[in-house]
Amino acid sequence: MSKTWLITGTSTGLGRLLTERLLERGDRVVATLRQSGVLDELLQRHGDRLHALTLDVTDTKAIRTVMQEAFERMGRIDVVVSNAGYGLFGAGEEVSDAQIERQIATNLTGSIQLIRAALPHLREQGGGRIVQVSSEGGQIAYPNFSLYHATKWGIEGFVESVAKEVAPFGIDCLIIEPGPTGTNFAAGLDHAHPLACYEDTPAGEVRRAVASGDFAIKGDAAKTVDAIIVAADAETPPFRLALGSTAYTSIRQALSERLRLLEEQKTVALAADLDG
Ligand SMILES: NC(=O)c1ccc[n+]([C@@H]2O[C@H](COP(=O)([O-])OP(=O)(O)OC[C@H]3O[C@@H](n4cnc5c(N)ncnc54)[C@H](OP(=O)(O)O)[C@@H]3O)[C@@H](O)[C@H]2O)c1
Repeated sequence: MSKTWLITGTSTGLGRLLTERLLERGDRVVATLRQSGVLDELLQRHGDRLHALTLDVTDTKAIRTVMQEAFERMGRIDVVVSNAGYGLFGAGEEVSDAQIERQIATNLTGSIQLIRAALPHLREQGGGRIVQVSSEGGQIAYPNFSLYHATKWGIEGFVESVAKEVAPFGIDCLIIEPGPTGTNFAAGLDHAHPLACYEDTPAGEVRRAVASGDFAIKGDAAKTVDAIIVAADAETPPFRLALGSTAYTSIRQALSERLRLLEEQKTVALAADLDG
């Protein structure tokens, strides 16, 4: 049976591909994006099933208006995909205050407010699904991406808690964690002004690897989107879905190391309880 979706950040990359794939299979999509005109060709082909709405996710008031309009227009929305986002590239000390604010407003507050705006509608219709596009960077951390990681770890914490809050209303959540994937993401990175003192540090190494193309992008955007659709269609999807070999390997390594460290602390941790 065909489904109805709302997706943010549909001008390029995963959001755009997801929109195309869903329309091709006959689903209905509310595609939100910052620039008008970008989806004109898709609108010509699928105008009866595609509704494009302008939305910058840093505008909370606009999120609520767009959500209201989307539910009114479609009657029901089965899956809300919080996808819009970008990377801030620089060490924590290097990025400017304005860069930090925009990164958090887009990736973290934007996603939180989108989900909050969707919840009353999903409750009212008796349920639905929220798909949050996070990153392997919501479970692990590379140097030179500290603010990006802050947003992705942050949104994962929010979604993990909200999922427990809204399960009684028939709403479930799915977190997608791709590794580096071939989209506009690398070209769209917001670069900090580099400080010379970081040149010979791990942050500098990551910068050189990205500049020289050595930061391997192994993820296939089309396969990533196909896997997102399969998971979003599943009756009981995994709560977290790592996509791509880089994501699988890096998350596995990070979780194993965290578990090892936790076990090492067991005696100290248990000893901190109240006596008796
Ligand atoms: N590609 C990767 O390596 C990778 C890996 C892990 C996670 N991700 C995540 O995947 C998601 C999609 O990224 P992508 O890889 O598809 O990159 P992309 O091709 O650069 O697409 C990002 C999309 O987000 C939109 N966007 C950015 N800021 C926005 C804002 N304030 N309001 C509304 N839309 C905004 C962009 O719109 P404009 O065209 O208007 O800028 C664009 O449509 C992001 O959340 C990203 O963090 C990507």
